[in-house]
Amino acid sequence: MLSYRHAFHSGNHADILKHYSLMSVLEYFQHKDKAYCYIDTHAGAGLYDLSSDEAQKVGEYQNGIQKILTSDNLPPCLQHFRQLVSESLPQNNNLYCGSPWLAQALSREQDRLRLFELHPADAELLRQNMRQIKSPNRAQVFCDNGFKGLLSMLPPPSRRAVVLIDPPYELKQDYQQVIDTLKSALKKFAAGCYITWYPCLNRTESQQLPHNLQKLSPQNYLQAELYVQAPRADGFGMHGSGIFIINPPYTLPQTLSEALPALVKLLGQYKNAHFNLQFAIA
Ligand SMILES: C[S@@+](CC[C@H](N)C(=O)[O-])C[C@H]1O[C@@H](n2cnc3c(N)ncnc32)[C@H](O)[C@@H]1O
Repeated sequence: MLSYRHAFHSGNHADILKHYSLMSVLEYFQHKDKAYCYIDTHAGAGLYDLSSDEAQKVGEYQNGIQKILTSDNLPPCLQHFRQLVSESLPQNNNLYCGSPWLAQALSREQDRLRLFELHPADAELLRQNMRQIKSPNRAQVFCDNGFKGLLSMLPPPSRRAVVLIDPPYELKQDYQQVIDTLKSALKKFAAGCYITWYPCLNRTESQQLPHNLQKLSPQNYLQAELYVQAPRADGFGMHGSGIFIINPPYTLPQTLSEALPALVKLLGQYKNAHFNLQFAIA
């Protein structure tokens, strides 16, 4: 049963960390003319209306993209992100992008987008949204399981790929599935750049995940975490989030070491808000 809908969470602090990192990786991939394939295993709907009942219900975007849009004191790295997001969106001020929309904005004629979304309603919305993009034939939407779908796409014909794995982690099995899928993916295509997003929770599975990810690629990884809220006394709730990248661009540690302190300052909701950045680049 799929109960998670990203429309309730779009534009929150976790989206900002994930989308900023995704932007930085894809911009690096454009340094070479050679095509790349972007594979999004859990793509969502692509575009979200922040004035919708879903987004308004909890208002998570107010502590995320809203702060970026309304700040008059952004450092250049976040100004660049704000400009890219704003220019990518259709002329409607209430929209925020999902990962596939951001990825298409950063892709070129020669690049390909392979997008998996299991929820039929969100897959249909994604299809409709991707029809609006320039050269829509570059993008394919599959209403299917993204873990399996990823493996069916590897190795990509271009031999260059950026993969985003962004499950809802509603099911405890998602944590193990991420590890199992990445193990198989690395066997099929060791050179891919694999970005995994995860929530920071007071739960063993979420705390273990980055350690297990690091074991898959101890010599070539980047881990960035953004802690914005005080952990709740009852242990529930997401107080931060992280991304773990296997085969990151060598420029990414520098890029994130500039952006993360700025994100803490802007999105932190308590005095001990902080980030964690670790990496090994072979
Ligand atoms: C966190 S949201 C994705 C957000 C999106 N990546 C973004 O950044 O805009 C996770 C999505 O995964 C979908 N989903 C859940 N299990 C899935 C699976 N096994 N395969 C593909 N999609 C799945 C959910 O319906 C949901 O839309």
